[in-house]
Amino acid sequence: MSAQINKNFLNISQSYLFAEIAKRIRDWQAANPEHASKLIRMGIGDVTRPLPETVVEALVKASREMGVAETFHGYGPEQGYDFLKTAIQNYYTRFHVALEQDEIFISDGAKSDIGNILDLFSVDNTVMVTDPVYPVYVDTNVMAGRKIIYAYSSEENGFLPMPAPEYKADLIYLCSPNNPTGAVYNREQLTAWVNFARDNGSIILFDAAYECFVTGDLPHSIYEIPGAKEVAIEFCSFSKKAGFTGTRCGYTVVPYALKRDGADLNHMWLRRQTTKFNGVSYIVQRAAEAVFTPEGEKQINENIQYYKDNAKIITDTLDRMQIFYTGGKNSPYIWMKCPGGMKSWDFFNDLLEKAYVVGTPGAGFGKSGEQFFRLTAFSTHENTEEAMRRFERIYG
Ligand code: MLT
Repeated sequence: MSAQINKNFLNISQSYLFAEIAKRIRDWQAANPEHASKLIRMGIGDVTRPLPETVVEALVKASREMGVAETFHGYGPEQGYDFLKTAIQNYYTRFHVALEQDEIFISDGAKSDIGNILDLFSVDNTVMVTDPVYPVYVDTNVMAGRKIIYAYSSEENGFLPMPAPEYKADLIYLCSPNNPTGAVYNREQLTAWVNFARDNGSIILFDAAYECFVTGDLPHSIYEIPGAKEVAIEFCSFSKKAGFTGTRCGYTVVPYALKRDGADLNHMWLRRQTTKFNGVSYIVQRAAEAVFTPEGEKQINENIQYYKDNAKIITDTLDRMQIFYTGGKNSPYIWMKCPGGMKSWDFFNDLLEKAYVVGTPGAGFGKSGEQFFRLTAFSTHENTEEAMRRFERIYG
């Protein structure tokens, strides 16, 4: 007798995309120590602006409370403190979405919940992802042995695939604004997906991690679409919105109206979380609450604008060079066609060797990304400008 491993792990790539890129950067730095200091990172979507002052003050205040018997907090509610859920509930009213407090679950980030939510579903479910795809959706399902259907996308459909009979699946992943393409579904397009899910008994797993970059009438939440509460779970994060990539906080919305096989998914998720999760720290939840105060909001909006200005530096360069791209307007990601018909990993190497700039090869996000490349707007102004100068000089 010996322990059996989960053999599905043999079906995923050796390392996670961003771990692979980090390794390649370390190897390049070791081989090119004289250029290492010139490296500009526009690969993984990690933020560079520090936490807003209001958030830092909340962290400090909550930390002090933890050192005083009367205000000390031990285990908190697994699904999050009411003060943060109320702040999120109020935020959704801006999009005319009414949520019950207990439809909101606080977590340590969208990525964890996107993986963990699969505990609720049979391994026999089929899964549909749009391609290019955030690799977490694929890898977590391959680990569990689920069958995946790909809705491929391209320049022709603006990297916004729409429902089609061959995309019928039990679980449908949508991300808007999209990672990696930065493309955003409008109200009509999202309505088509909600109706498709309703017609087929599917559940949409909607990743709204980049909603804070949305402007105009584009939807921030899938629940802005009538009927979505019966067919969708939404994931969101403070990572990009408020610089919490290292602080860790996010939330998941599981509406009461979402039921399957006579079971209430909100209750199932509560049962799962109370069993496997002990909640996000009080200190971090107080910091997240501060994001929604008027002062906190003002400060995070300045940071978001800072990244949008970076995105404009990138898109202005691509416009001048007449290179096709999506994103950058309502998203921190710019998804560009590789110059000279290069394949994405070749362009990754070329850009690193010649410009000392790191991006993410489109092929890492799936077949539709073979000739595309993702740049993030999360760098500093100085580095974004410098990277684009080098890029234009080399490929212009
Ligand atoms: C990305 O670069 O795609 C994101 O930072 C990854 C993530 O949020 O987990």
